[in-house]
Order: sequence, then C-alpha cells, then structure tokens
Amino acid sequence: MMKRTKIVAGNWKMNLLPNEAFSLIDAILPNSNGNTKVVFGVPAPYLFEASAKCINSSAEVAAQNCHELDKGAFTGELSPALIQACSAKYVILGHSERRSIYGESDSLIAKKMVAAWRNSLIPILCVGETLEERNSGSLFEVISTQLSILKDFLPFTSPFVIAYEPVWAIGTGVTATPDQAVEMHKFIRTELNKLSPGSGDSVSILYGGSVKASNAAELFSFDDIDGGLVGGASLEAAEFNAIISAMENTF
Ligand code: PGA
Repeated sequence: MMKRTKIVAGNWKMNLLPNEAFSLIDAILPNSNGNTKVVFGVPAPYLFEASAKCINSSAEVAAQNCHELDKGAFTGELSPALIQACSAKYVILGHSERRSIYGESDSLIAKKMVAAWRNSLIPILCVGETLEERNSGSLFEVISTQLSILKDFLPFTSPFVIAYEPVWAIGTGVTATPDQAVEMHKFIRTELNKLSPGSGDSVSILYGGSVKASNAAELFSFDDIDGGLVGGASLEAAEFNAIISAMENTF
C-alpha cells in the first residue's frame, strides 16, 4: 500500500492580525521539518508572505477558499491562479462554513476542485454531516453525496486530500470519538475505492472538529486518521506544536 502523507493543517479562518500571524508561523516552523506535512491555512492577505516564510522548510500554505475561475470581474473573490502565484500549495474547499453560510453547493465545489487542479493546487475537500443528519441516521448518505462530485474526476490523476469534519464538532469543543471518526474514515475509503480502486488506500483523510493537544494523540493513533484540520487550536503556537508532535510520535 502506498504510504499516505500525514498532515496537520491549521485553518485560521478570519483570525489573527499580521504580527500575530507571522510570529505564530515563526514559532511553528522549527517543528515542521519532521515526517508530518504542516500546512498553514491563512487568510488571503497573508498568502504571499506566509509562503515566503515557509520557503526553506517543508511546511506549506493553504488558502481557505478559491473562485472557480482564474480571473475576471468578480469583485472581492480570490482566484486560484493568484493563490498559486503567491506560492501556496493547498486550498481548503467545501468547508462547512462555506457550505452553510455562503450557500456553496456540491456542484460549485466541484468546479472549484477543477480550478484548483488547473492551477496545480492540492484541494483539501471538506465533508461532514450535521448533528441532525447524524441523529436521523442519514450521515453515510450525506457524506456519500458530498463525495459523489469526485466521480467526475475519474481516474484520479491529480492529488487531493479529504477532511472529514462533522459539523457538530466544529468550533464546539465537542470532538467526535475516535470510534466515530474511524468509522467514517473507513466509510470514506470504501467510497473512494468504489470510485477508483486503490484510491481509498492512498488519499490522506484528515479529521477536523475540535482537534486539540489533549485529544490529538488518541485520534492520530488510528491508522485511518491521517492527520487533522485544526481550527481554534491552530491559533496558539503551544497547542498547534503539541498537535504536530502528537503526529510525529506516530512515526
Ligand atoms: P475547530 O475547527 O478545530 O475550531 O473545531 C475546525 C475547522 O473548522 O476546520
């Protein structure tokens, strides 16, 4: 089996002023040259400088969203070509906040995936169910639908990462239990393998939703969990460094 990349990615969302942002990166970079791929999901104004800071390390920078076109009259939008020109490597797509607050549909997210690949970016595709969907038993159907956009991209020739982020765990302090996370990661691998045999074993699947220093080691101890997409806990150097170390300790 191909060895999957282990990734600890921060999703800063709309937080941190420039001095906070860059000193956070400075405090994490010394911890980012191990086996774990460290990714900083920064607000758009920091893409260029954050990427410059990471140039001599193996850390990478991610944008938190992108437009589905490379340029044009779209006031306020962020083009994947610009993200690439700023030397960022990843782009988070389909985050539940984009889906629920900005009404992003699966078909729009699919177009953004294509746009990301066209610009040599690696999409981190977020999927996740709400508490209502989990409680009603439709969680697997929901995730399967969110993943179904991938069938337009067969055979998979461009890299991507999946982040399983149960909506009820995002920013709530409530983390999915390892059993819940592993169950869904296994399901996602099965779905991927149905689409393209073997892909389920090679695509990195991150868990997201209240990952913190105190639960990272347990979550990362499961082979099916290839890392984390970390919101709140990525804003503090000590927390994020401890999460990176939790992954490093699995090697
Ligand atoms: P959280 O956010 O770690 O603060 O729950 C995760 C995310 O939204 O990606």
